[in-house]
Amino acid sequence: MVVLLLLLQAACMFSVVVGLWVICSHFLTADIPAAISHPVKLRVLHCLLQLLMTWGMIFEKLRICSMPKFVRFMHDLVPLKEDPDVVVTDLRYGTIPVKLYQPKVSSSTPRLGIVFYHGGGIVMGSLRTHHAICCHLSKKSDSVVLAVGYRKLPKYKFPVALRDCVAATTHFLKSLNMYGVDPDQVVVCGDSVGGGMATVICQRFLGSPDLPKIRAQILIYASLQVLDFQLPSYQQNKNVPMASRDFAFYCVCTLLDIKPSWKSTIMKGAHLPAEFWEKYRKWLGAENIPERFKKRAYRPMPSEPLNESAYLETSLALDSVNSPLIAEDEVVAQLPETFIVSCEYDIFRDDSLLYKKRLEDLGVPVTWHHMEDGFHGVLSTLDMGYLHFPCSTRILDAIVQFLKGL
Ligand SMILES: *[C@@H]1O[C@H](CO)[C@@H](O)[C@H](O)[C@H]1NC(C)=O
Repeated sequence: MVVLLLLLQAACMFSVVVGLWVICSHFLTADIPAAISHPVKLRVLHCLLQLLMTWGMIFEKLRICSMPKFVRFMHDLVPLKEDPDVVVTDLRYGTIPVKLYQPKVSSSTPRLGIVFYHGGGIVMGSLRTHHAICCHLSKKSDSVVLAVGYRKLPKYKFPVALRDCVAATTHFLKSLNMYGVDPDQVVVCGDSVGGGMATVICQRFLGSPDLPKIRAQILIYASLQVLDFQLPSYQQNKNVPMASRDFAFYCVCTLLDIKPSWKSTIMKGAHLPAEFWEKYRKWLGAENIPERFKKRAYRPMPSEPLNESAYLETSLALDSVNSPLIAEDEVVAQLPETFIVSCEYDIFRDDSLLYKKRLEDLGVPVTWHHMEDGFHGVLSTLDMGYLHFPCSTRILDAIVQFLKGL
């Protein structure tokens, strides 16, 4: 009994120490931009996530479960809010779990369909974490939303998540009739890594003339390349919550099975040969980013000479399924009308700016919303009560307006 009490006491003490450590260390590491309208809320959000990740790391070290698995488990404990106006159905396409959202009111005409790929770096995020976003989308734009529960890290590495998304999207496109969706009105949509997934799906499905053509793509602070970690936004926002540059790097390395010891080589751009940088400067170069985005702490960093071993081990990064930003002109030119959201305080901001320019240069219509007070992941605060950021509502409203105009 006494031993048990002592153990319990020790566990409590340890939890308090971990909590305090997370709170204190965030003051030293996290960069909370003054222009973000609710700095305290962002601190709270950041500390909560860091706390989950820290406990996840502890459990991973103790070999109890992996960090991503623990974080997802905790996220999924948050109860789902039901919306009386939306019918939510849990389905499985083969082995892939999906959630279908349909407005309760019946419609005499076929509806718009949205395939939604959630974000979270393939580490976090789930059908549950993005439930509120999908519910709102379905209700406000009167559309049928299909959210894809693709498999994630650390168990399922590249290309499992992508394959799951391709399979689920194909399945949906073949079942439109059953869900009352207009085959001329199917849109793909995703946030963060899900936004990257959405455009990769668009690029890939250009070669599938037997499936309904995708009408538009909605890319919310999407991650669109894993090649250059020194673009202005990657330097400026490297320590801004909710996605630091180190975390993005961790996700990429885990996904593509790249040894973390290559970090400094990759950060310096020495994992790619000079000819590569020369060839892709026209698309990746910071000169494609408008000057107003380069005013905050940014220093151009010429890439260092090639480290051949790093190049050989990181070559997957060059594949356009991992870096859709460098897909060939013939592919990008055929992409459907595009809606882009970028956030000022987000490492992935420049992925959006560069892709926007590529699409526009090739004649693809782009609707672009830049959130001056936005940070990565802000849309997920939509239904978070006290932690809600008004920016999330603005993003949702802009998407709904775009969908209504299709
Ligand atoms: C490549 O990088 C690794 C790790 O940083 C280093 O040990 C190695 O010497 C480098 N090779 C060359 C050719 O620079």
